[in-house]
Amino acid sequence: MEFFQVVEQRHSIRNYSSRPVEPEKLNRILEAANLAPSAANLQAYEIYVVAKVKQRAALCKAAHGQGFVIVAPVSLVFCTNAARLLERFGERGRGLYSVQDATIACAYAQLAATALGLGSVWVGAFDPEEVRKIVGLPEAQQPVAILPIGYAEAEPEIRGRRTLEDLVHPV
Ligand SMILES: Cc1cc2nc3c(=O)[nH]c(=O)nc-3n(C[C@H](O)[C@H](O)[C@H](O)COP(=O)(O)O)c2cc1C
Repeated sequence: MEFFQVVEQRHSIRNYSSRPVEPEKLNRILEAANLAPSAANLQAYEIYVVAKVKQRAALCKAAHGQGFVIVAPVSLVFCTNAARLLERFGERGRGLYSVQDATIACAYAQLAATALGLGSVWVGAFDPEEVRKIVGLPEAQQPVAILPIGYAEAEPEIRGRRTLEDLVHPV
């Protein structure tokens, strides 16, 4: 798929079929995330892959019962790992860059999933402490986003956007 087609065709998918995600496709998504830019290329984030039903159920509960989290065959949990840049960037690294690193990687993964014919949805509403327990996060890491991935069962809802006139501010 051409780049702008991918960007235009990515929509949040909240209805998944039980069709598994092929390991090769999952690997391509992870490879794409790994190509994301990061502060000083220190890659201050980690990706946890949740595919077992029991853990998906726990993740669904942690995401305040958002049901598609258990239905999607796999979810990626993007977490900060500020220890990787603390020495170089101090507090700005911990509070900002590590979050940005994890966020950009998740955005790359989401676009890669679209390019491979898969659906996904960014999940930010979750209890971080519950997610920490499910994926076994060390204290220094923080979950930033959950990305359920799978084949869409239904057509997505198309959400509108602000106009560029409203969004963009020439200075
Ligand atoms: C930071 C962030 C948090 C989000 N959290 C959730 C969430 O918890 N549950 C959900 O269903 N969608 C969530 N979304 C998806 C947005 O609702 C969705 O991207 C937005 O409505 C635009 O729709 P689109 O993705 O189809 O273009 C989140 C998106 C972002 C970027």
